[in-house]
Amino acid sequence: MAVPGSADHITGGAAGRAGRPGVRDQGPAASRMAGRRALVSGGASGIGLATVRRLRAEGAQVVAIDRRPPAPELARETAAPFLVADVTRAHDVADAVTQASTLLGGPPDVLLNAAGIYRMRPLLELTPAEWDETLAINLRGSFLVGQAVAAALIDASLPGAIVNIASTAALVADAAEPTAHYNASKAGVIALTRQMAVEWAPHGIRVNAVCPGVIDTPMLRLMDDPVAGQAYLDSCVPLRRLGTAAEVAAVIVFLASDDAAYLTAVAVPVDGGSTAI
Ligand SMILES: NC(=O)c1ccc[n+]([C@@H]2O[C@H](COP(=O)([O-])OP(=O)(O)OC[C@H]3O[C@@H](n4cnc5c(N)ncnc54)[C@H](O)[C@@H]3O)[C@@H](O)[C@H]2O)c1
Repeated sequence: MAVPGSADHITGGAAGRAGRPGVRDQGPAASRMAGRRALVSGGASGIGLATVRRLRAEGAQVVAIDRRPPAPELARETAAPFLVADVTRAHDVADAVTQASTLLGGPPDVLLNAAGIYRMRPLLELTPAEWDETLAINLRGSFLVGQAVAAALIDASLPGAIVNIASTAALVADAAEPTAHYNASKAGVIALTRQMAVEWAPHGIRVNAVCPGVIDTPMLRLMDDPVAGQAYLDSCVPLRRLGTAAEVAAVIVFLASDDAAYLTAVAVPVDGGSTAI
């Protein structure tokens, strides 16, 4: 089901930041992604939604897929068509990539795999069904969408760039947030990223990952207890704050852009320094 936005208005640009002495303008370059055709899974919320905005602001055409449509005001604001699809279902994914290719006028040459879930459960209480659900969405979903997009690009002899979202949870354990199934799924995403990168490099397709730390989106659980959350930020995050979805989106769009033309098979922490200590 397509849920097209109706307004062509982009927010969050560089307006208002330029010209302040000593402040570098970090707003999006208006044309860096011009001519690019982007597909964003998990595009209805959080980091996926921020990446839809950033890609649009940098000139790309964007189609988002998610298992639920975005709020109507978000659909209007991003002006990006949304396709409802469950990334764990191969048929949904194949249909979504075909529809996206039609809407974009060619196969997506930028893919962000952002669809994901985060569930806490101590290992001794974790059920096989909970394990399977998390692995299916976070890992199988990235495989299915990545495979469908790469196949379409290779069929058309076109290059492209894929960015998968892993997590710092793939790199470090945390007894306070028991998420073995999530951590394993995200470690799998890093391995998947490397393998996609080396198998598809001969076709001109680069594949990288980001490993976000604690990012302020609806998924975040850290600040459910604000006192403990702030204590964590003060002691475990050198920059001593949460990251924003827009800050992760900026790195994702860099990795997808030609500015990263010689980067493939890397997993970049976007974590305020937390994995360094
Ligand atoms: N927020 C953080 O602190 C953080 C940290 C590390 C990694 N991440 C990762 O970033 C990605 C985006 O997360 P977010 O923080 O923006 O969370 P979010 O909950 O705001 O967004 C996730 C989106 O994925 C969609 N989704 C879930 N299951 C789906 C499915 N089966 N098919 C299609 N869409 C599906 C949801 O509907 C939602 O819109 C996830 O992969 C997450 O694991 C987030």
